[in-house]
Amino acid sequence: MDKRIVVTRTVPESALEVLRQVGDVHVCPQDRPLTAPELREAVRGAHAIVAMLHDRIDADLVAAAGPQLQVVANVAVGYDNIDVPAVTGRGVIVANTPGVLVDATADLAIGLLLMVTRRLGEGERLLRARQPWTFHLGFMVGTGLQGKTLGIVGLGDIGQAVARRARAFGMSVAYTGRRRAAAEVEAELDARFLPQDELLRTADVVSLHCPLTEQTRHLIDEAALAAMKPTAFLINTSRGPVVDERALAKALQEGQIGGAALDVFEREPEVEPALLDLDNVVVVPHLGSATTETRTAMAELAARNVAAVLTGAEPPTQVRP
Ligand code: DGY
Repeated sequence: MDKRIVVTRTVPESALEVLRQVGDVHVCPQDRPLTAPELREAVRGAHAIVAMLHDRIDADLVAAAGPQLQVVANVAVGYDNIDVPAVTGRGVIVANTPGVLVDATADLAIGLLLMVTRRLGEGERLLRARQPWTFHLGFMVGTGLQGKTLGIVGLGDIGQAVARRARAFGMSVAYTGRRRAAAEVEAELDARFLPQDELLRTADVVSLHCPLTEQTRHLIDEAALAAMKPTAFLINTSRGPVVDERALAKALQEGQIGGAALDVFEREPEVEPALLDLDNVVVVPHLGSATTETRTAMAELAARNVAAVLTGAEPPTQVRP
């Protein structure tokens, strides 16, 4: 009997081709985030699940799938949607898609950095609103990056790629995180390790590149925002709940920081309404990895993870509990 592979949402054809070679592929027809009951129903009898970051995968879901389930392949590098100990504890392999989205996400972080520091969203809104304007020296001036400090929270692959780009803009790099980067990485990026409170106090731009865990949930809370410079900018391309969004809106309203640019949201896809009223906030809808090349590579990697497990091979990018 063919192995049943459930794909919770449409993926590129090239990934489906890989999956079809190892099983019977069912793509959920809804093409939207499934409700929990829909997801439970969809995965019944699955040997493999290709999941999206909005699918909650936990012990109940594994039980709903049945004892034949072998692998959950997330089409994302982040896997905070998966209760990894619960799933792996039931003998199911979990895989993610690291590596392939590093450049796209770092590019987006720099795009957001430029947008918020140079007020590009504001300028665009002004023209689209057909407002009158003329060039003058004080008109819509922003903040230059040269000589400023980028404070990176989490110097993993994406954090490093952002640091490399920022150095090309003449910024210096400081970072914080659970552990120090390798000496070669620090040397290449000329990156200084700082305790988190010092990084928040001294950085001109704070960019978040840590995974969402119980330790990083609301890492940027009222106290962290109060510690930042009143001119500093916050960039978030990691996961929404790393920032306490209500505290952020309040800090921005009160002028405690200079601005924020967000790709991810605490209650995604909802955006804290107060943020949308602020001119010094840039918001985009979780586009970090959104290039055709990257999304295709992510789906293909997820498919290769499934194919490996279903054929008894080592998956290329397994998540270890
Ligand atoms: C991820 O992979 O975790 C991103 O958030 C989406 O590409």
